Amino acid sequence: MMRIREMRSGDIPEVMLIEKESFNDPWAEIHFYSELYLPVAITWVAVSTGKIAGYLCCWKIEDELHLNNIAVRRDVRRKGVAQKMMNKLIRLARDEGKRIITLEVSDRNPAAIAFYEKNGFLREGFRPNYYEHDHANALILTKHMETT
Ligand SMILES: CC(C)(COP(=O)(O)OP(=O)(O)OC[C@H]1O[C@@H](n2cnc3c(N)ncnc32)[C@H](O)[C@@H]1OP(=O)(O)O)[C@@H](O)C(=O)NCCC(=O)NCCS
Repeated sequence: MMRIREMRSGDIPEVMLIEKESFNDPWAEIHFYSELYLPVAITWVAVSTGKIAGYLCCWKIEDELHLNNIAVRRDVRRKGVAQKMMNKLIRLARDEGKRIITLEVSDRNPAAIAFYEKNGFLREGFRPNYYEHDHANALILTKHMETT
């Protein structure tokens, strides 16, 4: 059984292990701690058999949700963990009458792009040379709640 709950400060060491195995430019630990105190932030962990399987960090900005981070532990990928978190986020967006969910993703990240496109996100913008560490371009993907 997997459940999704609010992230707590005690989760952050485990979250950092996933963050570091998931990204070449991981967030610093302090970044996660500060999210916990930000009123606009949604920070969730997915927990299965007592271990953190993944997490999601999002901001509520007026009628938009900005998805800032989502990652799943390597050994439990392709088992629907990210999908469960996305389903919950989409439900929240609908319940709170949000207009869009939007995010940036590297154009060198086909797994994430496939995941977002499956969830109805459309390519609506392009920021060349966006990521400092590898100079990859960013795609801006947006899901319109009214139409998708
Ligand atoms: C992207 C990521 C969060 C997906 O997590 P996940 O739990 O493995 O995804 P799910 O099992 O919920 O996948 C749901 C659907 O997304 C798509 N998808 C997910 N991973 C995919 C991959 N590697 N290749 C192609 N499609 C993929 C599939 O359609 C999948 O459904 P299916 O397995 O029935 O075919 C995960 O690969 C990850 O943590 N990557 C590193 C961090 C990252 O890149 N985060 C996004 C930054 S913008």
